[in-house]
Amino acid sequence: MPDYSLAHETDWTGWRRAARAFVLAGVEPADLTWTVGGLEASRLPDAEGGFTLSGSLVALAARAFQARDPERFGLLYSLIWRAHRGTLPLTGEDDPDMRIARRWALAARADAHRMRTHLRFVPVTFRGQGHFLGWYEPGHFVLEPNARLMARRDPALGFTLVTPDGTAHRDATGLRFGSGLKNPEDDETLVAWWEAHQDTLLATAHDDGGLPEAEDLPEAPRPPDRPNLGPVVLPARPSNAMRTLTRDASGCVRCPLHGPATQTVFGEGPSGARAMFIGEQAGDQEDTIGRPFVGPAGQLLDEAMEQAGIDRRQIYITNAVKHFKFALRGRRRIHVSPSPEEIGICRFWLDAERAALNPAVLVLLGGSAGRAVLGRPVAVTRERGRPFNLPDGGLAFLTVHPSFLLRQPDEASRAREYAAFVRDLIAVRTLINSASE
Ligand code: URA
Repeated sequence: MPDYSLAHETDWTGWRRAARAFVLAGVEPADLTWTVGGLEASRLPDAEGGFTLSGSLVALAARAFQARDPERFGLLYSLIWRAHRGTLPLTGEDDPDMRIARRWALAARADAHRMRTHLRFVPVTFRGQGHFLGWYEPGHFVLEPNARLMARRDPALGFTLVTPDGTAHRDATGLRFGSGLKNPEDDETLVAWWEAHQDTLLATAHDDGGLPEAEDLPEAPRPPDRPNLGPVVLPARPSNAMRTLTRDASGCVRCPLHGPATQTVFGEGPSGARAMFIGEQAGDQEDTIGRPFVGPAGQLLDEAMEQAGIDRRQIYITNAVKHFKFALRGRRRIHVSPSPEEIGICRFWLDAERAALNPAVLVLLGGSAGRAVLGRPVAVTRERGRPFNLPDGGLAFLTVHPSFLLRQPDEASRAREYAAFVRDLIAVRTLINSASE
């Protein structure tokens, strides 16, 4: 009975290579045992030829492979075996093994999302550069796909994500994976461990090359097809006036929110941007990193903008309130909505940003942005999806905040709301183009 040992729990490349060789060699699923981290490299049978599987089955297997269940190697092998033999029903709706694989895939997907939402970064220095260090204990093996997703979404972000399963380190030279750390008591312990281990960690780390990026799998809600709306060409640097404002706002003490926050999170974007996207306030990751919309809500916004044909590099993005308001729950900082008074005080900076940029369209993401610009409470679900003429001659468009999508209770409502959000952004895109003509 063959016994195949994978290099590590997320050795997707090794598993795929072995599964292919065993299928071609005719090894029945019941005759094959999978283990992890055996001392010696296992031998693969000599197998000639190849075969293809449907992309959706491979994608499902890749996601289910992230589930923390030792049975997954064997069950996924048996799916591949049956698909190759033509005995796996095409849709697999009623197949018990497919149902298990789907359950694993969904659990891993939810866990990947949880990790991105709950991750807290500590700013550190790595080889003279600003770097972000975070620890999290995921339920499933989602470190690698999440690190890959974060690296793609923010090409300039240097980070190290530490988990008990392993560490993902990303700097200017690329993304690498090394050994992990069990529950550090506090941030100081984590930083001390990182400082003591970074050289060994980097020397022994292996390069990126394992599990694919989580979000590319078919279970993720898919928005409508991206329309072909043509390019928008805009200059790419902030103006001098905006740089001065950013510097002035960094010392803002206009309201008490500056006290517990790490820093002011000012808007960013090029001087010629025709649209200003306005959120509520910085979240935990934005507060640590110092840039707007870089956490989970920002990642979802990026994805939806991309689907709608809006290039984030060509818009200006900011918040109604420039400091993170939170309550401490244990070690976690929980978001607290800003009050109408805090929104009113911070309007000083929003007005200054608008005066410096003179955008054709303001995109109001959610109720706080709506209140800041329209000067009254807004009923987002009722009033969304249409332009507002502002008393000063400007144009605004109200839609939901991306965190509203993250709060949806199930996949179906998340997919529905996401598609509606993308539709709103497509309308925004049309508005920007017509307002700029
Ligand atoms: N939510 C916001 O409204 N703004 C951010 O920058 C991040 C999350």
